[in-house]
Parts: sequence; C-alpha cells; structure tokens
Amino acid sequence: MKEQTHKRPDAKPATRLISVRASRLHTSHSLFFFQSLRSLSVTASLFPSSRFLAAALLRPIDFTRARVIVELGMGTGAITHELLRRMLPGAVLYGVDINPAFITHVQRKIRDSRFVPILGGAEALGSFLRQRGIRRADAIVSSLGLTSMGPELRSNILGQVAEHLSRDGVLTQYQYLQVSAPGLPHFRERDFLREYFREVASERVIWNLPPANVYTCRL
Ligand SMILES: C[S@@+](CC[C@H](N)C(=O)[O-])C[C@H]1O[C@@H](n2cnc3c(N)ncnc32)[C@H](O)[C@@H]1O
Repeated sequence: MKEQTHKRPDAKPATRLISVRASRLHTSHSLFFFQSLRSLSVTASLFPSSRFLAAALLRPIDFTRARVIVELGMGTGAITHELLRRMLPGAVLYGVDINPAFITHVQRKIRDSRFVPILGGAEALGSFLRQRGIRRADAIVSSLGLTSMGPELRSNILGQVAEHLSRDGVLTQYQYLQVSAPGLPHFRERDFLREYFREVASERVIWNLPPANVYTCRL
C-alpha cells in the first residue's frame, strides 16, 4: 500500500500552506520534546516558546535601528522566525545554541542570508563576536534556562552579555513562573539581572506553557 505523505499536490494553496505549517510545527515540537527528555536541565522546557512569549520578548527591541542581534538558546527557532520577520534587510542575527540537533534543524528550516547559526555555549559569546569583528550587539534575546544553570556559568554568561551589549541596547530574558519546584535551587532572576543592569522591567506572559516572566534589561 502507498504511504500517505504530508504533501497533497491537488490541495488548494491555502490548504497546502496550512499543511506545510502544521508539519513544520509538528517537527519542531517533537524534536524539542525529545531533546528535552534527553536533557531537561539544558533545554529547560518541554515545549518551544509560544508566539505570545516571542512577541513579549521582541517588543522592547527597536527594529528600526538594530543592526546586530544575538539570540542565545535558539532551540528549534520559535523566536528566531519572529526576529527575522521584524528585522531590517541589512541587519544580522547570530543564533547560538549548544545542542547540535537544534542547529541542524534551524539550518534546514531557515534560509535567510541575515541569519548566522552558531553551535556552541553562550559562555563563548565574547569570542564568537570577536571572531566576526563585532564589538557589541544592539539587542540580545536570551531563552537560556538561568534557573537550572550553575551560578558560575550564569554569571560568566551575563557578564559577557553586559560587556557586549551596546550602551543603548536591550537584553530580553524570560523565566518560567512557579520554578521553585522540589529539586530546583531557589533563584531570583530579577535580583540576579539587577547585578548587571541598571534597569530591569518585567512583564507576565500567561499564554505560554509554562507561563513566564519576561525581563527587559538596560545598562
Ligand atoms: C528553554 S529552551 C528555548 C528554546 C527556544 N528559544 C524557544 O524559545 O522555544 C533553551 C535553549 O537553550 C539552549 N542552551 C542551554 N544552555 C545553553 C548554553 N550554555 N549556551 C547556548 N545554548 C544553551 C538549549 O539547548 C535550548 O535550546
């Protein structure tokens, strides 16, 4: 018997678009889910961010001026797509992730000359930028699970973020609500971010699994 596929050549364009989007969503969600099962402390969630969380993370960025944007912890690209949709034609997005399966996935999925995927840890941010002749980014969007990271690693990363963000730039970072689950160390993300940034504002996003606080940080 012939195997059924996602592509239906006879489908109307709108139907085809929906089925392509659904199959992409399916691939991204299942990859994310299975990678999380392998290492939940690194992936920090079972599901990619919702479009509501992505919108809240990107709202503080002035896309009319941002030329260099860095995304830390890109995962399957839920936020990456939204960044590219808003960015200027001449802007560049460096997307960093430590998981090679995610990097391969976004490389296949995103064909955009403004996008540069980088395999590696956010703790090497300074050297990634130096290798590319960049001193500072105009915006940094981070999905890193700071709560589940060791204190030395997160201090190292945030130190570099503060050092490599332009003076009028912005960092956005989220933390899931109710993260004080048994086994997880107590960690106050706002207080931690205040050690590096003069201004830390927060917004709650309930339409995400799990709901999250988005922090907007300025030097
Ligand atoms: C909560 S997921 C977010 C994924 C995606 N941005 C989203 O919102 O759906 C966190 C991501 O950070 C990545 N990650 C964890 N530690 C990292 C590190 N030290 N450097 C770079 N990426 C890291 C994980 O592989 C994972 O893709």
